Amino acid sequence: MAGEEGIDIEVNGTLFRIEAPAQRNLLDVLRDDLKLTGSKRGCDAGDCGACTVLLDGEAVNACLATLGYCEGRRVTSIEGLSDGPQLHRVQQAFLAKGALLCGFCTPGMIMATVALLGGNKPFGRDDIKAYLNGNVCRCGCYEVIVDAVEALLAHAE
Ligand code: FES
Repeated sequence: MAGEEGIDIEVNGTLFRIEAPAQRNLLDVLRDDLKLTGSKRGCDAGDCGACTVLLDGEAVNACLATLGYCEGRRVTSIEGLSDGPQLHRVQQAFLAKGALLCGFCTPGMIMATVALLGGNKPFGRDDIKAYLNGNVCRCGCYEVIVDAVEALLAHAE
């Protein structure tokens, strides 16, 4: 429940009670309160996708989601994706294709891709590009990123 007691959210499988205003954004909670700095702050305005996390399995921009909106819900950040040392298959695919340069956009790209795979939709290359339109890569790695996502979709169950 919201209020003086704090706001409960589940992050990467752990329940946290955050003592902060309901208007505080999720990115601040993750990076500053919980010290989970994998989700990046790019534009802080919903335009770059660097802060993408999963909220109940759906991709959201953490810079736009308020703590109150996330109350009682399940957040997954890039830190919650691997199984110990075993990388998630999306992380493995990005590595295999070399789908990163500086890596700043990579957590958001990966989280957006995880949400895409969860949707189980048939996606062609142009669909992948359209889907990832909200995730900006300043290094211009789009083609290899799309290669990685395409490879994942080709092997989706
Ligand atoms: Fe959230 Fe850019 S930092 S979309």
